[in-house]
Amino acid sequence: MATRLAEVPAHVPAEAVRDIDIFDIGAIDPDIHIGWKKLQNESPALIWSPRNGGHWIPMRAHVIERVLSDAEVFINGGQWVPPNPEGALPLIPIMSDGALHRAYRSFIMPYVIGKPLLAAIERARGLAIDLIEGFRANGSCDFVTDFSQHLPIEVFLSLVDLPSEDRPYLASLAEVVRMPDEAERMAAFGKMYEYVAGYVDERTKNPGTDLISTIANGSVLGRPMTREEIVGECTQVLIGGLDTVASMMGFIAAHLAVNVPLRRRLSAEPRLIERRVDEIIRRFGVAGPSRQAVADVEFDGIEVKAGDTLFVATALHGLDESRWSNSLEIDLDRPSSAKDFQTFGSGPHRCPGAALARSEIILYLEEWLKRIPDYSLVPDKPMVSASGNVTGVLSLPLQWEA
Ligand code: HEM
Repeated sequence: MATRLAEVPAHVPAEAVRDIDIFDIGAIDPDIHIGWKKLQNESPALIWSPRNGGHWIPMRAHVIERVLSDAEVFINGGQWVPPNPEGALPLIPIMSDGALHRAYRSFIMPYVIGKPLLAAIERARGLAIDLIEGFRANGSCDFVTDFSQHLPIEVFLSLVDLPSEDRPYLASLAEVVRMPDEAERMAAFGKMYEYVAGYVDERTKNPGTDLISTIANGSVLGRPMTREEIVGECTQVLIGGLDTVASMMGFIAAHLAVNVPLRRRLSAEPRLIERRVDEIIRRFGVAGPSRQAVADVEFDGIEVKAGDTLFVATALHGLDESRWSNSLEIDLDRPSSAKDFQTFGSGPHRCPGAALARSEIILYLEEWLKRIPDYSLVPDKPMVSASGNVTGVLSLPLQWEA
């Protein structure tokens, strides 16, 4: 957590300045989505925070939409929030723009749709059933560490054609990557890079038909990718789908633990899960990408100047009452559709894993509610969550009658 406060630039109006640390939204409310909502209710269209290098936070749906989709004015390859640590590898494709970004991204797309998607989901479904059956008789589990974080890892291993035996190691790193201590987090990221780099080297020499092989032997703008680019891109595919999916499942599980009529309806009418999953996803934005402005733009009288950085809390879009009345409620009769919300972003960087993530959420709900339709939070062990570039659920103890 950065403690040094940046100086407020002259063009930032005093009424837009808020001392908000994106890594500590829990200080506003322990339920992070409620914390964002409270802040949204009392804020102008954008606020400016002196924390983490000094940056804007778009607070309203119309600003979020423009910032995420207008890649001419808001670039991904500039300064991030928090500033990328010195010497850290850039994440690819998210920290790139234009033709280079399109080239990087083209390697991923064939693996997150069609047959590879179906194969990955089948593998994750098998694992979900095994995990639930493994702890069902205990009458309790930690939803995140015993269940949700394992599914996206299994999906990644399927996309890159690696065995399930690697899952416990990646799960142990995934736990550390979510910890608040920056040094520990960076060390775990380093181990993920190392893990991926081993397979990158192997598959550069002996390519298969998997995603790592495709990236490792890919060319961009008429030249082969560098090893740094290859490892950066393979690692982002791993990281991009890990905490996001596991945390969204965690928020959904916690919500269903206390919203009993909603849970009973989904259990009684499982066909609603696939039909209405977008409304559930709308409610729990978890990603927080950054942008840097390269031109001056005005939003509702507030001027963002070229060079300014922005942190986009996608959660705020799904909570904006001007788009979603009674936004905190999951209303299965609301006609939400992925094109209307920003949980997966929009524009050239829109999440390539959106269909995959959506299928993961569906399979989790189907397999869980079939086997454990009634469960509750554990009174003396509350959910532990953390805000930041991904709003994460670190731990969620649940209990039920075995
Ligand atoms: C619930 C789960 C997920 C959420 C909420 C989510 C959210 C997002 C968002 C908002 C972006 C756009 C970032 C930007 O505009 O700069 C993004 C990009 C990305 N996501 Fe996801 N994501 C999820 C799952 C996944 C999965 C399963 C994968 C695995 C393939 C993945 C891989 C990526 C990658 C590689 C990018 C960068 C795309 C680019 O820069 O072109 N994500 N994600």
